[in-house]
Amino acid sequence: MGKFDFDRIIDRKGTSSEKWDGLEKKFGKANLISMWVADMDFEAPPCVKQVIRERSEHGIFGYTDQPDSFYNAVVEWVNKRHGWNIKADWICNTPGVVPALSASLMAFTQPGDGVVIQPPVYYPFFSVIQGRGRKLVENPLIFENGKFRMDFEDLEARITPEVKVLFLCSPHNPTGRVWTRKELDRLARICREKDLLVVSDEIHSDIVYKGSVHTPLASVSADMASRTITCISPSKTFNIAGLSTSVAVIPDERKRSYFERVTEFLHIEGGNLFGTFALEAAYNEGEEWLEELLEYLEDNIDYTEDFLAENIPGVSLVRPEGTYVPLLDFRSLEMSGEELQQFLIHRAGVAMDGGHWFGRTGEGFARINIATPRSILRKGLEGIEKAIKDPAR
Ligand SMILES: Cc1ncc(COP(=O)(O)O)c(C=O)c1O
Repeated sequence: MGKFDFDRIIDRKGTSSEKWDGLEKKFGKANLISMWVADMDFEAPPCVKQVIRERSEHGIFGYTDQPDSFYNAVVEWVNKRHGWNIKADWICNTPGVVPALSASLMAFTQPGDGVVIQPPVYYPFFSVIQGRGRKLVENPLIFENGKFRMDFEDLEARITPEVKVLFLCSPHNPTGRVWTRKELDRLARICREKDLLVVSDEIHSDIVYKGSVHTPLASVSADMASRTITCISPSKTFNIAGLSTSVAVIPDERKRSYFERVTEFLHIEGGNLFGTFALEAAYNEGEEWLEELLEYLEDNIDYTEDFLAENIPGVSLVRPEGTYVPLLDFRSLEMSGEELQQFLIHRAGVAMDGGHWFGRTGEGFARINIATPRSILRKGLEGIEKAIKDPAR
């Protein structure tokens, strides 16, 4: 066993956890193995717990500023983990990546402008664009040989003059793709030719498995750096989503000032007190924990793949290169998205994100969260196995 115990089961019920306490509200049933939403059933690293404990002892929780050491922690982390040299000045504080997506649309687009997304994709991409009255332009990914890929020809065809922005998900949730340098270079060429701004959601960039390398889109060229808003956060990496802390990296000075004007008038630039301390501790001291976490997650992925192959042929894992929320392919059951959802809830006793929530191309898939102790993962998979083998089905 390593230094950190990821097998330990920690009861999250009664802790205001959306994943566990929100089951009844979201799925109409409370007694399910919860495998939806992208947070983990593991404790945050000890350095994070410690800094929060210490800061809470002070007892005064007033308005918060981010010290230079906060920005330096981001600079060093991004350099160390992803080889991208950024400047502290380029970093804008945000209370979450979804708010940053929304602020970007307010800063750089007008109602009616087109925004491209690549479904099946993280569903708030749809709601942010539509909620802000922008036009959704879909460039679906293609599923081929067990893997999703971008359709560049379709992308080029869809970028008409009204289309101003691409929301990139990199690594991509829920397909688990870690876009290669070659793919990103091709994408960058298209963005340059079409003069597109990209909001690159790189929230999953630290969760990348052996054999894949995350390349920040903005690092591929000076042109791409000047047209990219990169959203990153320690929230997925260190399981601190509830601390509402993320950053947007914007190298272009004018774009940064437009973005900051929006976050200032929304009054969301101030930051969460505990998130501010947690980010710094996690980025400065959490790497050893992350390395162990990645091994545990990859073992869970292997476990899931083997379990399905041995016990539920017909259902397969879309093997992720990154992220802990990959897709399971249930298309052989020939159910609609809603039928599959009801089947998983009422017959298998598991709560998973319906593939169709991520767009039409997700129909027949469901997203599983494997960031949980193996014994919970096993119970969830056994529930699915029983439901599928049930002769009464
Ligand atoms: C791709 C992606 N972006 C953003 C988020 C949420 O970001 P935040 O909680 O910082 O708004 C998630 C959470 O699952 C995600 O998967």
